[in-house]
Amino acid sequence: MSVPKLTLSENSEGALAKSRAEVIVVGTLQGADGVELAAGAEAVDDAFEGTLTEVLATLGATGKSEEIVKVPTLGRVPAGLVLAVGLGKADDVTPERVRRAAGASGRALSGHKRVLTTLSELDLQATVEGTVLGTYSFTEYKSEPGEAAPSTIEVAAPSEGTTRAHKATVKAATAIAEAVGVARDLVNTPPNDLYPGSFAERAKDLADTAGLEFEVLDEKALKRKGFGGILGVGGGSSRPPRLLRVAYRGAKAKKTVALVGKGITFDTGGISLKPAAGMDSMTSDMAGAAAVLASVVLAAKLKYPLEVVAHIPLAENMPSGTAYRPGDVLTMYGGKTVEVLNTDAEGRLILADAISRACEEEPDYLIETSTLTGAQIVALGERTAGIMGSDDFRDRVATLAQATGENGWPMPLPEELRSGLDSKIADLANVTGQRWGGMLAAGIFLREFVSGDLPWAHIDIAGPSYNSGSPWGYTAKGGTGVPVRTIAAVLADIADYG
Ligand code: BES
Ligand code: MN
Ligand code: ZN
Repeated sequence: MSVPKLTLSENSEGALAKSRAEVIVVGTLQGADGVELAAGAEAVDDAFEGTLTEVLATLGATGKSEEIVKVPTLGRVPAGLVLAVGLGKADDVTPERVRRAAGASGRALSGHKRVLTTLSELDLQATVEGTVLGTYSFTEYKSEPGEAAPSTIEVAAPSEGTTRAHKATVKAATAIAEAVGVARDLVNTPPNDLYPGSFAERAKDLADTAGLEFEVLDEKALKRKGFGGILGVGGGSSRPPRLLRVAYRGAKAKKTVALVGKGITFDTGGISLKPAAGMDSMTSDMAGAAAVLASVVLAAKLKYPLEVVAHIPLAENMPSGTAYRPGDVLTMYGGKTVEVLNTDAEGRLILADAISRACEEEPDYLIETSTLTGAQIVALGERTAGIMGSDDFRDRVATLAQATGENGWPMPLPEELRSGLDSKIADLANVTGQRWGGMLAAGIFLREFVSGDLPWAHIDIAGPSYNSGSPWGYTAKGGTGVPVRTIAAVLADIADYG
């Protein structure tokens, strides 16, 4: 993705006359007696001699969430157009509501080169994140890319706080939105072009640019070191598996955080083949890998005082004469054996290897994320991730996920499900053989590979990482970049509080 250039201007009062923007974005609210103007719109309203609300009401504006109404300015201000975007009910305008409105405005701004947004007077960070993410589009494979997103976004400064602080906020929010874009691009790249080897190359480019440590284990190294889970799952593909280690060592690092992300570049189910309907969405089965890669790059960009190490297992789950079978027993990294009862429960097998390796380095925290189970979508729907793990850290991650608007929810690992994973011939089976609690059973499987008292979280993003419906708020169709913003928030929290 290419991120628009962001510039911090004066507050909207000062910026309006000077700005070279073609469009000015203002917020609207659903008041008791119809549409109202949000803070930041005063200067535009003055230029309209106080008639803007009436003009908007006449055009049918109500202020409801994500509503877009365009008003020509006819020379009242240098910009030709006012774009009014709805924030919803006038009470309790949360950062997430600002982010969604900003996203909706970003989506409506295609074709305009330069814009000035005043939503920032409500919430600067949410406005930058939302606007930039709203302008995202993936046109790599289009012969005709369509109307371009704005190249410059001027952001009106909020009245409170220093310019220095505002600049820092704009910079951080832009970096966060850019990281989300990196993850979206990887998810949106089709599986004929994105496979373990090519993912590794892209990761190396990103790591080199950010000055990170980079290591890749190819199939020979994986065999030598005993990564039986990754090799088993990757064995059916002509494109061999990889395991990446991408590390950022911040100056004065207070804590070490290990990140692990599922990188199945395409999931056919393997010999336990998936049905054809909807199989194309399994191009997103590397969304966890994309998110942790984008997050470690972001950690370096924002210079968190932490050590952040991403472990990324990559494999393509294909049926073939060399594929692993239901009935196979794999010896995982670290020595545990797993009986494969369903080759479509492949994510947990590659993750087990990567988690074991991450734990060898004795990090202070471990965050793992994966498009792990359809059961996550059954339980929580398409927009809410399931968060499992050790109780305190799980709750901390879930609270931060909600604060970012990514909306993860804490889920238990009920002890009675553990015995379902007992195998007659190996240490463990990869599925329980019963449908109920599938998301939780997968979490319990992963727990077997996490060191005893390590605070850890497993974020199942099967639904929220991929939007197969229409765009909404700042969420485009296709890859969403979830949970990059949650991981960023957790890293920032650990940097602040340990
Ligand atoms: N990648 C899928 C999970 C998935 C499903 C992600 C739908 C996104 C949307 C995973 O590898 C899988 O196939 N899981 C199985 C597990 C089952 C065999 C225990 C599932 O959920 O059906
Ligand atoms: Mn699968
Ligand atoms: Zn999968």
